[in-house]
Amino acid sequence: MEALVRKFGTPLYVYSADQILERLTLFQQALAHRAHLVCYAVKANSALAILRLLAARGAGFDIVSGGELERVLAAAPDAVSRVVYSGVGKTVAEIDLALRSGILAFNVESEAELDLLAARAAKLRTPARFALRVNPDVFAETHPYISTGLRQHKFGIDIRKALALYRGAAGNRWLQAYGVSFHIGSQIRSAEPFGAAMQRVGKLLAQLRRSGIELQAIDAGGGLGIDYHSEHFDAPAKVAEYAAALNQALDGFAGRLLIEPGRFLVAQAGALVARVLQVKRSGSKTFLITDAAMNDLIRPALYQAHHEIVPVQTRAGKPRIVDVVGPVCETGDFFARDRKLPPIEPGDLLALLDAGAYGMAQSSNYNTRLRPAEVLVEGARARLIRRRETMADLLAPEIL
Ligand code: LLP
Repeated sequence: MEALVRKFGTPLYVYSADQILERLTLFQQALAHRAHLVCYAVKANSALAILRLLAARGAGFDIVSGGELERVLAAAPDAVSRVVYSGVGKTVAEIDLALRSGILAFNVESEAELDLLAARAAKLRTPARFALRVNPDVFAETHPYISTGLRQHKFGIDIRKALALYRGAAGNRWLQAYGVSFHIGSQIRSAEPFGAAMQRVGKLLAQLRRSGIELQAIDAGGGLGIDYHSEHFDAPAKVAEYAAALNQALDGFAGRLLIEPGRFLVAQAGALVARVLQVKRSGSKTFLITDAAMNDLIRPALYQAHHEIVPVQTRAGKPRIVDVVGPVCETGDFFARDRKLPPIEPGDLLALLDAGAYGMAQSSNYNTRLRPAEVLVEGARARLIRRRETMADLLAPEIL
């Protein structure tokens, strides 16, 4: 870390390619006995180098915007045939781009979107493969901002309406019913809700079959959670438990199983390295002020998320209770509150762990701060995959 920081500065995102690929392999092996496709959720970390890495090992992609499709086209154009496109508000331009690029399937989230897709497909004379993203009305224990599988959420189509929509689409020569999809939320720690959702989708599949509609694929979405607190995380056991829950509920389905993991593949492969600028004592509080801030990693501020923080070099001495905060002008700009950490002095480096997912991807330029550089470690080699932003980058789109 010290060598990388000397070369590339701080704040710096550092990712392990080996761990990302290990995680991909876990999913691929757990599903090896059936036709499957692991579609990495690009939103978790959309670095081009990471997309290329995953594509080279056969991964597909789950995208939610035309922008994410452009990323796949730039990083791994051959993988476009393994792209599924989710999202509640697709524009005409985005749909057209996806149709022309030849993606695998659209995960359609409303009746109006299905009509729009049919119209665009007819206009471009390009048949559209689609899956209805159904809302299975399953509760999954997670932060309310990232839970999606209940009827009250904006996502998906009421599962009770799906049959009629598939029937309606069957008469349209520009629509090909490829599959059915669902996604119940993110950072879900138990396998149980995935199985429950799959069971409901299984019932829909049986109804469809009775109506003469045979779907080729089920897309079970993403959402498998990690442990942000513990050092000892048994990823193979988690994947095995998850795959078993899905498989059990899938029962006699002989088609293809798609999954869309994001966090599980990249979160624990990444750290955000920051330098301590000052140690400030104020009343009974001690603040470690770092050169990274909420604009670089917003998860603690937005979801009260916990990230382990470790000094890159340890110093001897008694631990202290501290707040770790950034320089942004908001009280919400913190990484940890009342955290017990070993002694840390100004100039020391801290690593914020498990920051590979929804870290850089959710970063911003708030307070006119330049976003971090990113480094990918592959075996014994490390390379820059995104240079640090410059002031010129930031000011370029503005007009005086
Ligand atoms: N598929 C769909 C349709 C999704 O909406 C998501 C995430 C995924 C797959 C991937 O879910 P994952 O495997 O990463 O849990 N920013 C939040 C997480 C938002 C998740 C949004 N959708 C966070 O930092 O916790």
